[in-house]
Amino acid sequence: MRRSTLERPPAVPPPLLLAALRPGMLRLAAAEADGVILNWLAAADVPTAVAELGRRPDGFEVVARIFVCPTADVGHARALGRRLITTYLTVPAYAAFHRWLGRAETLDPVWRAWAAGDRRGAAAAVPDEVVDALVLHGPPEDCRDQVRRYADAGVDVPVLALLPTPELAAGGPAALADLIARLGPAGERGAGVNLTDRVVVITGGAGGIGAALAYRFAAEGAAAVVVADLDVAGARAVAEAVGPVAHAAELDVTAEDQVRALVADTERRYGRLDLFCANAGIATAAGLDAAPADWDRAWRVNVLAHVYSTRAVLPGMLARGQGYLLHTCSAAGVLTAVGDAPYTATKHAAVGLAEWLAVTYRDQGIRVSALCPQGVDTPMLAEGLAAGHLGARVIAASGAVLHPDRVADAVIAGLAEERFLILPHPEVANHARRRAEDPDGWQAGLRKLVRRLRS
Ligand SMILES: NC(=O)c1ccc[n+]([C@@H]2O[C@H](COP(=O)([O-])OP(=O)(O)OC[C@H]3O[C@@H](n4cnc5c(N)ncnc54)[C@H](O)[C@@H]3O)[C@@H](O)[C@H]2O)c1
Repeated sequence: MRRSTLERPPAVPPPLLLAALRPGMLRLAAAEADGVILNWLAAADVPTAVAELGRRPDGFEVVARIFVCPTADVGHARALGRRLITTYLTVPAYAAFHRWLGRAETLDPVWRAWAAGDRRGAAAAVPDEVVDALVLHGPPEDCRDQVRRYADAGVDVPVLALLPTPELAAGGPAALADLIARLGPAGERGAGVNLTDRVVVITGGAGGIGAALAYRFAAEGAAAVVVADLDVAGARAVAEAVGPVAHAAELDVTAEDQVRALVADTERRYGRLDLFCANAGIATAAGLDAAPADWDRAWRVNVLAHVYSTRAVLPGMLARGQGYLLHTCSAAGVLTAVGDAPYTATKHAAVGLAEWLAVTYRDQGIRVSALCPQGVDTPMLAEGLAAGHLGARVIAASGAVLHPDRVADAVIAGLAEERFLILPHPEVANHARRRAEDPDGWQAGLRKLVRRLRS
């Protein structure tokens, strides 16, 4: 690495993972890198490779590429596996790796046939046990259990190299989506996100995204869902519709004493508070000349309220060593809300605060997600569109306007993965990347859209 220079070195050096097979490289990885990438080894081989790493620095990652052919068609899996093994394990570095792992005798006939130019004979000489150990196959759940053996043996990050199967060829994209879910860790798929028995508070729960979260959390098995809102009649209607696990609370999120009282009441009733969703938010549809009271209110509802609720819940969560904060920010917090200066500024602040919390408290068991949707079909956006506000029209022209239930889907998936940035509109990630890489180009694109909508 000494003689290699990057034209544009990243500000924060990325982790360096070294692909390593045999002892020298494995030891080099442990001494110099942030992790090691293993390849073409069986779960039973992992301890041999890991032992060579010796003492590793904290945070060092062992990554393994694992070939998976999730099919009930054993013949298909073994034929494909044989072909792959014959082409890979005859490459000198991989042959030496498997000699070191103790397969010299088993694979010798393969190497000899290959050297003599007999590719068919080489493939035929790979014993079934070797194919089965190196190319996992069977129903997806069996493959998942076999992958777990790698994890149990010391692999931190299993990277699945998914091979084609007859089932995938017949089932198309839907079969692929189903397969990926079934290969995931057991009990953490879809409904498996652990909201079971959780005690949840949602602010701004009387409608829109907050109400959709309340319904969804209850459906996922939450023990208690507190629907809090300034609009207490709306909150009551939602809590009633959600069912007996829910109850309504009148709350102004900008009044710190009210927030503290609600948190204390929840902890008293249920013994804990697992997930606090700071979701209440307001838009102003105003530019720089927004009235001072509007600037102030946007700041208090969209930002300070997140400070108040976090201050109220943290002592209990830290004492238990765990807790989850879901802060509804907005795509406006990572991009720009055309036509609404206070909303843009305060949502950027909300994302900044959430990020600060994640960095500061994650190691004490506090998980933080910032929910950043673009257009969602709620009263907030509907009112903007009905009034013909430019900002609402830009949102509607920028991509799909999602039903709040789709936002709840994204939240469930994001919480399951403990992902910081939850983006119900995946395109927001691309916009944000573009904005970071080329701010001028990105702004020019947005101005063009605005000119088009104005004309
Ligand atoms: N709708 C969208 O397109 C969109 C997009 C991105 C982000 N968001 C964000 O999602 C969140 C929810 O918005 P929504 O779209 O469901 O809008 P909404 O207007 O339907 O819901 C907001 C809720 O917050 C409540 N609220 C407002 N001020 C409050 C206060 N001081 N105390 C307690 N409750 C208060 C309102 O009564 C309302 O029930 C907001 O933070 C919003 O900024 C919305």
